[in-house]
Amino acid sequence: MSSRGGFSSRIGFIAAAAGSAVGLGNIWGFPYEVGEGGGAIFVLIYLFFCFALCLPVMISEIAIGRSAKKNAVGAFNKLGHRNWNFIGKLGILSGVLILSFYNVIAGWAFGYVIEIGSGNFKVADDFGGFTADAFRMGVYGFFFMLATAYIVSQGISSGIEKAAKILLPLLIFMMISMVIYSLTLPDSMAGLEFYLIPDFSDVNGKVVFNAMGQAFFSLSLGMGALITYGSYLGKSENIISSAVLITLADVGIAFLAGLMIFPLIGYITGGTMENAGRGPALIFVTLPHIFGDIGGMTGIVVGTGFFLLLCFAALTSTVSLLEVPVAYLVDELRFDRKKAVWLMAGIIYLLGLPSLVGNGYSEFFTSFITYGGSDQPVDFLSFIVNVANDSFLPLGGCLIVFFASHIWKKRNLDAELAEGNPGYEGSLLQKYLKFALPYLIPLALAVIFVMTVLSTFFGIGI
Ligand code: TRP
Repeated sequence: MSSRGGFSSRIGFIAAAAGSAVGLGNIWGFPYEVGEGGGAIFVLIYLFFCFALCLPVMISEIAIGRSAKKNAVGAFNKLGHRNWNFIGKLGILSGVLILSFYNVIAGWAFGYVIEIGSGNFKVADDFGGFTADAFRMGVYGFFFMLATAYIVSQGISSGIEKAAKILLPLLIFMMISMVIYSLTLPDSMAGLEFYLIPDFSDVNGKVVFNAMGQAFFSLSLGMGALITYGSYLGKSENIISSAVLITLADVGIAFLAGLMIFPLIGYITGGTMENAGRGPALIFVTLPHIFGDIGGMTGIVVGTGFFLLLCFAALTSTVSLLEVPVAYLVDELRFDRKKAVWLMAGIIYLLGLPSLVGNGYSEFFTSFITYGGSDQPVDFLSFIVNVANDSFLPLGGCLIVFFASHIWKKRNLDAELAEGNPGYEGSLLQKYLKFALPYLIPLALAVIFVMTVLSTFFGIGI
């Protein structure tokens, strides 16, 4: 244990896991999904999924990790089920793929800090041209990966935990300041209304589906990130209350991101909210225009602050993504941590190059693949998102929960959860898990996996 390192306290673990959860998914993904999903109704469905479906998956991951005290693959071996370690291998593959493109987007955010910091709001006029500038994006991404690798190379308590303990409070402070600022702008109330008052006529299958996928990704589930972090958690800590706090922190910060962004959109649209459904461009195109409109030094400070906070959020997530393969190399192949870190960071950076050049620089990777039932090719980055995020994560989550309740067995899981939590035995949550973990959740995730594959790759509609 001591040679692997560990979190110094429960708070350290919660900060690191919340840092993993809070990322581009919360600040970039969540608001644009809300915008496309019709506003408040999406928020409600999202909240339901976070607690009813995702929290039990999170609890299972942490319990598996803490019980085995091993990485995502080694955990299955250690618990005596070597045949099931393919779940961990799938997780490591997902993590490597996700980090490869995630780092590219984090690089854009870093580039915006530099551009807007030097007063260049025009960067948003030609976002396509910005992302197509492969050389510059490659340099930004390189620095981002360097920062990630440096933190992970410092180990669990003095690298990952310390970074989260510094970055997370800073992030929350910056977000709250931004929320207060955006609420003082004219027409901000129209944005709030869009965000907070549900319109049930907007519900359809796709909204429900996206809310589910968003919840899963945002909570960092389905690839063993929390098996890995759980393996560094002490036996006396309460897994359930930790998982609840991690979920609350993640949901809370996504919620704050909405509170910051929708009033801004209310302001820029004069209250019509017609740009709210702009999709991924919401943050990289719409927002900088707003900061530019604010004008002067205030515009620069607010704009730079926003993209800086996006970078901080992304950094504690890239750290968790890198730690999953690193922990595997350290535990299973006896790598020195530093060597494992630099090797993996290098490989993943290279694997990200197709995602980097697939935004206009290379025709081949920009129009990379055309799925069945569609005539529009998608770029390489979107392809990896569809494979790793949309397909592998629900599949991994389904397998992890199935493993925990049927193979490792519910009583082992229960014993692990009761450790550090005397009130667990006989609690309402235990009753819910008893029914949800073996049947409800694996089934729901299996359905989501199959439907995603059919609809994304074969155009068979939902
Ligand atoms: N949750 C992070 C976000 O919202 C991304 C992330 C980090 C992640 N680690 C993960 C997603 C592990 C899935 C699995 O941006």
